[in-house]
Amino acid sequence: MKIGFVGAGRIGSTAAFTCLLNMDVDITLVDIAEDIAVGEAMDLTHAAAAFDKFPEVKGGSDYSLLKGSDIIVVSAGLARKPGMTRLDLATKNAGIIKDIAKKIVEHSPESKILVVTNPMDVMTYVMWKESGKPRNEVFGMGGLLDTSRLKVSLNARGIRADKLFILGEHGDSMFVAKSIAGVDVDWSEVLQETRNIAAEVIKRKGATIFGPAVCIYRMVKAVIEDTKEEIPASVVLQGEYGISDVSVGVPVILGRDGVERIVEYDLTKDEIEALHNSAKILRGRLAELGY
Ligand code: 2OP
Repeated sequence: MKIGFVGAGRIGSTAAFTCLLNMDVDITLVDIAEDIAVGEAMDLTHAAAAFDKFPEVKGGSDYSLLKGSDIIVVSAGLARKPGMTRLDLATKNAGIIKDIAKKIVEHSPESKILVVTNPMDVMTYVMWKESGKPRNEVFGMGGLLDTSRLKVSLNARGIRADKLFILGEHGDSMFVAKSIAGVDVDWSEVLQETRNIAAEVIKRKGATIFGPAVCIYRMVKAVIEDTKEEIPASVVLQGEYGISDVSVGVPVILGRDGVERIVEYDLTKDEIEALHNSAKILRGRLAELGY
């Protein structure tokens, strides 16, 4: 199996490293900064060789390198700087994603595409629209990371929940599916912590890296190994939860075919309202971008 990465920055290269250490896969890194992509590929090759593993690891700026990838992770684009909202990035990154979509379709039309570039939900929609691919093949990573952060807050209170999902926008309007979690806690407090913690990391180390990278790995693994795990992901809805024509975080089953199913829970009225609120915010931003 082969995994492609468009964007060989800290998130892309750390995700590639995590995939390389944990799965038997070939890796290709594509970045406009060709030297970075080539250098990361060389460095990754040496890491694999320490375990006598010699996968094919390539780097460069040419999208033809991606040919035959089972899944392509897109993290290229401008990063969110301190003080900037994810949505501030939309206009600039939409242009970048549009260009990447065309090149992926030209060189590796069969690949599933995992979008990480922020504002992730908006970029997932742009990627879906511009690639012309079926919606099950284009999905975004955000809800899994937010849910991981929520788990940290709950763990600090000695609470575990079997099924935990942050749904909606990967951004300020995200919410917890409390009715699915079935535990008792001050949700507004833990949600507030979850919403703000990425900015705290960014303030200190300039970016969030390990969290996103490992969440990418978990989603890529679900596709590569066809695990059919239930994971929150951003996907274009076409009537599910009464929402259409926007990509927003919902629970999905991930497997070899990408989003194999969107899981529709019987959410409470408040939760449905929160999901619709996220969808409305994201649709508004897409409209501003001309979608
Ligand atoms: C994160 O949540 C910044 O979206 C990025 O870590």
